[in-house]
Amino acid sequence: NVNKWLPPLPGQSRSPCPGLNSLTNHGYLPRDGNTPLTPDMLITACKNGFNADADLINFILGAAANLGIPQNFTLGQLNIHNAIEHDASLTRQDCYFGECFKLNIKQFTNFMSHVSNGRTLTVQDMVNCRHNHFNYTIANNPTYLLTGMQYFLAYGESSFIHLFFGASGTWEVPAEFLIPFFLEERLPFFEGWNPPADPVHLSQVFNFISTLQSMPATGP
Ligand code: HEM
Ligand code: MG
Repeated sequence: NVNKWLPPLPGQSRSPCPGLNSLTNHGYLPRDGNTPLTPDMLITACKNGFNADADLINFILGAAANLGIPQNFTLGQLNIHNAIEHDASLTRQDCYFGECFKLNIKQFTNFMSHVSNGRTLTVQDMVNCRHNHFNYTIANNPTYLLTGMQYFLAYGESSFIHLFFGASGTWEVPAEFLIPFFLEERLPFFEGWNPPADPVHLSQVFNFISTLQSMPATGP
């Protein structure tokens, strides 16, 4: 199977993005992680792996270029701090604390602790987690930067978790999909996931970001 999951070998690179890393581990993108990625390669991979519409990927690539990411970037070039990579990521450390590109197990555990019903990450759980983690960064990282654009990106990434892995309508995401996606950077096919039946468009992401930003955080 060409799209079999294989973890990276020594010398192969990965990025701060669990989505692109998973596509790479399944061979939708070159497995070495060092090959420069063209817009066509990214659009095709995100379509085949996630059923992301080209309008969404083109928007991300436009934003990436504006934020100083080189054309035909490698996965490693996405690590440039304060280009797309930003503080207060859910599962990666701020640059100030350590490596911003690889999963941090303490942060992942904290993220999963927001699954309040024990089975699925609800939209409210995500709002609470995002809110708490922004506050954590503001309180603990003396060098933190969170511009309007960076808030927007962070909420956009959170939207991806719901729109690509959640049940259409409730947008609840099974915990059993999140664990392989983040820990192994593997698409959770064995756990019963399939890409969304309908292509995920830019407009849906914008709407989802507005929803997340307008919901008050709840709980302790
Ligand atoms: C985070 C790039 C597509 C899911 C990131 C980050 C970058 C990035 C640079 C790091 C931001 C940070 O947290 O500091 C890209 C590019 C894409 C793309 C260039 C397309 C061309 C996707 C797709 C998914 C995805 C299709 C699908 C699930 C995520 C998630 C995060 C993230 C969930 C947040 C991780 C966290 O907060 O710990 N992306 N991404 N991305 N990306 Fe992507
Ligand atoms: Mg980050």
